[in-house]
Amino acid sequence: MNKRQTHLRIKKLREQIERHNHKYYIDAQPEISDREYDLLMEELIRLEHKFPDLIIPDSPSQRVGGSPLKEFRTVTHRTPMLSIANTYSEDEIMEFDARMRKNLTGENIDYVVELKIDGVAVNLIYENEIFAIGTSRGDGIHGDDITKNLRTIKTIPLRLQMSDSISSVLEVRGEVYMTKDVFRQINKEREKREELLFANPRNAAAGSMKLLDPKMVAQRHLNIFVYEIGYMEGSACNNHVEALKLLDTYGFRTNPNIQRCKDIDEVIKYCNGWQSKREKLGYETDGMVIKVNSMVQREKLGATGKSPRWLIAYKFPAKQAATILEEIVVQVGRTGILTPVAELKPVALAGTTVSRATLHNQDEIMRKDIRVGDKVIIEKGGDVIPKIVSVVKEVRTGKEREFGMPRKCPVCSGDVKKIEGEVAYRCENLKCPAQLERRIRHFVSRRAMDIESLGPAIITQLVKKKLVKDYADLYSLKFDNLIKLERMGDILANKIIWNIRESRNRSLSRLIFALGIPHVGVLSAEILAKNFSSVDQLRTAKKEELEAIGEIGEIMTDSIMHFFEREDTKEVLIKIKNAGVKMEETKSLEDKVFVAKNFVITGTLAKYKRHQVSDIIKELGGSISESVSKKTSFLLAGASPGSKYNKAQKLGITILTEDEFLTLIRTISGQIAR
Ligand code: IVH
Repeated sequence: MNKRQTHLRIKKLREQIERHNHKYYIDAQPEISDREYDLLMEELIRLEHKFPDLIIPDSPSQRVGGSPLKEFRTVTHRTPMLSIANTYSEDEIMEFDARMRKNLTGENIDYVVELKIDGVAVNLIYENEIFAIGTSRGDGIHGDDITKNLRTIKTIPLRLQMSDSISSVLEVRGEVYMTKDVFRQINKEREKREELLFANPRNAAAGSMKLLDPKMVAQRHLNIFVYEIGYMEGSACNNHVEALKLLDTYGFRTNPNIQRCKDIDEVIKYCNGWQSKREKLGYETDGMVIKVNSMVQREKLGATGKSPRWLIAYKFPAKQAATILEEIVVQVGRTGILTPVAELKPVALAGTTVSRATLHNQDEIMRKDIRVGDKVIIEKGGDVIPKIVSVVKEVRTGKEREFGMPRKCPVCSGDVKKIEGEVAYRCENLKCPAQLERRIRHFVSRRAMDIESLGPAIITQLVKKKLVKDYADLYSLKFDNLIKLERMGDILANKIIWNIRESRNRSLSRLIFALGIPHVGVLSAEILAKNFSSVDQLRTAKKEELEAIGEIGEIMTDSIMHFFEREDTKEVLIKIKNAGVKMEETKSLEDKVFVAKNFVITGTLAKYKRHQVSDIIKELGGSISESVSKKTSFLLAGASPGSKYNKAQKLGITILTEDEFLTLIRTISGQIAR
């Protein structure tokens, strides 16, 4: 293919991919399989790679791309992004209707009622049908340029399907949100990584939009509903329903749950209908939006400084109840974070009896001035766990007691510390039983020290029997210790001992991740390992040195500094080192014996999993391929190898059995360790 032909093919691929995107994400009627979609994308990326000058920002390959930004550019909105006035009762909706009728005397008024999506407002600017700039609402006058983040949202079209081309500039307003499922999943992952949890899907969406690295935003799987045209040259639509239809035809995602109502009674009926139905939606709504349908009437009604007069939000009443706050107890989470929990006088609320509520943290208690003995109003929000919304201060007797975070951990009496820049308090004790199991599970996990067979049930027993008081103790476990545990046999015990021993040779980045430094995830650990060649170097690094690494932010720097200053850290590091755990990256380039060596793995391996073998090969500088070719250096053949074996034989490629491979590795690592 010459360049011109490639260009045509690229254009075709882009059209196809965007069409299938639309089919999949907006119509929910995919026409091709995921694999076929991936193949189209792979071809596009390959061709664009060949001719980089053909890459354009609206190519589907560019949705997740680019390097992290330093900060967002500020943009002034062409037309201010106003907000919506709120109402909370039928009476207020009637008052709104009365105002409309007064301002539009004698005219027929049609309303459109929509769901109020609980996310973050954004403005999408299209220039000549191409998504050019996307902004956050900001203060309504200026917002942040978050184009790169918005591009990662697959339901935002990068190029419009306009047949009329009436407007060279088009601005569309919508709400970026996170589904309840994604929210739960992300929080689950955050918990695993010992990161602070998002309070609700809206916070998660808002937090994601503020990330400077679009690659991270892409992992948040955000979505969008658009609901208004903010700016368009020439007036194409007579009313809102038409405008939404037009947006649909351009390729945007609008919410299907809308109702045109000929009077306010219908409006109220429709709103009430959603009150309980909304629980069944996959995303959160905090109310309904009632809009005047006619564009001419909207024009006539105009806006106040804050919000247009032609619409109003009806907020669903929160599920609330009043009760007495009997005590505030402090729980120590598995991550060491101390969480105050409200113990309430049991009260019925939305179908369940509530006797506990989260208080999140000390800051929140102070902000709301919550005291033990107070009469409080509790509410069930999007989450199942209720929260305290306010205190009925008028009925205070003076006997109420203020709350302070304990200085010592209620579980282990270890020091409790508030880390600067964070709202959370943490128990500092690495050996705190409330955290120990979790820490050890993290230490042995696949992306950390990868100690297989040492599952949660065994860890629980080891901690309970005090055989393990910190993760360094794993290395002194004996067969005799293990064999006494429940559901333990000779084979398993031996395997665990072997796996623990073998883990002493893990890479530096794995070890750094395994240490469980708050805020240091897999990627950060890799970056740290690239910048420091041993745990000791990292331990003694100066603040400036850490800060000089672009990817390591202030919070992480503080967390690392603090972690290594602690006495118990020093103690556990000495223990690990004495146990023979490799504390530095020993592999200099000359140790990377497999550089330029390509491996193909086939058949069933008996002693290791494939990913473990791949890790070892990669650590030693080698690469892995799926198929045998002239470029293959070694074929590692397990049991029942299949056709790759024959091909390798034909090509005269060195074939290693698993045992031969392991002997080779042991010899090499012996040399390296020397
Ligand atoms: S219309 C003048 N329609 O709610 C603003 N907004 O609390 C015109 N929102 O800032 C926006 N669902 O971010 C409109 N169906 C909907 C909406 C909606 C959610 C958001 C929007 C607005 C906020 C006000």
